[in-house]
Amino acid sequence: MCGIFAYTGKKDSVPILLDGLTSLEYRGYDSAGIFVAASGAIKAVGAVNNLKAKLPATPIRGMSGIAHLRWATHGEPTEANAHPHHDCQEDIWVVHNGIIENFKELKAKLISLGHTFMSSTDTEVLAHLIEHHLREKKDLEKAVIAALNDVEGTYGIAVSSKHEPEKIIAARLGAPIVLGIGENENFIASDPTPILRHTKNVIYLRDGEVAVITPSSHHIYTLDSVRVERDEEIIDWDVEQVQKNGYDHFMMKEIMEGPEVIVNTTRGRLITDEGLSKLGGLEMVAERLRLMNRIIVVGCGTAYYAGLVGEYMLEEYAGIPVEVEVGSEFRYRKPLIDEHTILLAISQSGETADTLEAIREAKRKGALTLGIVNCVGSTIARETDAGIYNHAGPEMGVASTKAFVSQLTALALLTLFLGRQRQMSLSVGKRIAEEIKALPEKIQTILAQKDAIRAIAEKYAGSRDFLYMGRKYNYPIALEGALKLKEVSYIHAEGYGAGEMKHGPLAMIDEKFPTMAIALSDSVYQKMTSNIQEIKARKGKVIAIATEGNEEIRDLADDVIHVPKTIEMLSPILTIVPLQLFAYYFAVKNGQNVDRPRNLAKSVTVE
Ligand code: M6R
Repeated sequence: MCGIFAYTGKKDSVPILLDGLTSLEYRGYDSAGIFVAASGAIKAVGAVNNLKAKLPATPIRGMSGIAHLRWATHGEPTEANAHPHHDCQEDIWVVHNGIIENFKELKAKLISLGHTFMSSTDTEVLAHLIEHHLREKKDLEKAVIAALNDVEGTYGIAVSSKHEPEKIIAARLGAPIVLGIGENENFIASDPTPILRHTKNVIYLRDGEVAVITPSSHHIYTLDSVRVERDEEIIDWDVEQVQKNGYDHFMMKEIMEGPEVIVNTTRGRLITDEGLSKLGGLEMVAERLRLMNRIIVVGCGTAYYAGLVGEYMLEEYAGIPVEVEVGSEFRYRKPLIDEHTILLAISQSGETADTLEAIREAKRKGALTLGIVNCVGSTIARETDAGIYNHAGPEMGVASTKAFVSQLTALALLTLFLGRQRQMSLSVGKRIAEEIKALPEKIQTILAQKDAIRAIAEKYAGSRDFLYMGRKYNYPIALEGALKLKEVSYIHAEGYGAGEMKHGPLAMIDEKFPTMAIALSDSVYQKMTSNIQEIKARKGKVIAIATEGNEEIRDLADDVIHVPKTIEMLSPILTIVPLQLFAYYFAVKNGQNVDRPRNLAKSVTVE
């Protein structure tokens, strides 16, 4: 949520900053702005292209600057509210991701001291607070630290001053900041994506830390001004992974990466002959895991739905009671947790504020915290006791697709791990491992049907409502399929457990309200076909996701998409793929920008 990028070095910073912002666009697109210490600022409402269009009229140059993409929280997406924000003298400029909760009190105090505000954002108080402290401290670092000690809330910031053009100061509390360490150039960003094309050496700031960079140096301090030594980490993502590589949209590229993602998530982790999964990230807590008797899974959005599938897997095969909850609810309950409870957090970004707070709350209560996280080095990855990295590569589309496939795969590996520690037999373990291994090829056969799926999506693209229904393992897939359609096409879509239809939702069905029914040839097939019949009896149109070879379902459904057979536990990893493709083609047909759905941002770092 909100993207920050900053550069100081020996090159012209403007193209570097614009390029960095373009690669961060999934973090926000309400407005964009840059400040270059040697010449000034430009801002524009909307995405980075609007900012680029303004450059010829207001050329700016300089070897150091800060840049921002806004996802509006306080104040409308106007140019006045676009970052960077400045102090009264237009000397100190700030970009910010997060929320300054006490900004009203601080603003009133600063106004009473003679400061003039130009925007209705919470961020602007930071620039004026720094100005205020600078008068007394006469030192930019000290003034930034003093200002941060006055604020309550969350922040990831970058600060630049006209008087010290080579220097940029960053700080974080609850919103991610990463430093990129190059040769005679250094960077600051919200995540490593814009840094990758310049250097793979990074340092993740921790909460309560401040960093000062110049072209040739980087230093980290605490908010008490104590120097911190931290080694650089090497990122193993490639630049190509954050590009579209010939696809029209990241969403399509990432759906097509499904088979490769499963290979990467499972690489070196499956011992098929022994029916085991080998999870290096859990080794140090393996013995403690044997003693655990309850799992609480926490995630938001798509990650939460992955958790719901995990509940079915873990209860059936590992025999451990599981509860799943969205982070934003978990943290406001009084959850009953003890030292035999696992809190399993699922998060692609590893930065989702509600999931992170749930982890912190569970830790305070003595739980063992585990993470299934894609972004290496992210806050959730660092704060959990142990975990499984997805290795899905960077996900750039705001709508999560390949990360979900990888999360389900990681949950299957975890089920195997915990199941074999408990009552799962060798033969069941082997069967699951073999089936996991076969998934990439099976997904490939679904992807090969993409033109047929496009034709079906285009046939229904005029619908304004959609119902998704499934049962058991595929109930969460109905929820996730509906979420995908909602977020990229903005149409009303609801996901239901098919057994619930008679308890209310069936009332909505008529000839204009189509249903996507996940009806595999599994233990709930007969029940699903009954539900489909009930829809047909109300003149509802039905698209069925059915098991390869099931042709009889054509007598019931208006359209059919086939997926290969696998064991029930792994079937969601296949059934989600046609639903992702369907949502993609449906939205594209309706002219939507699937990579940048309105009102959304990729990483939700505020509550
Ligand atoms: O980074 P996370 O996995 O923690 O993000 C959680 C949700 O914000 C995310 O899955 C969101 O629901 C996606 N836009 C869904 O496509």
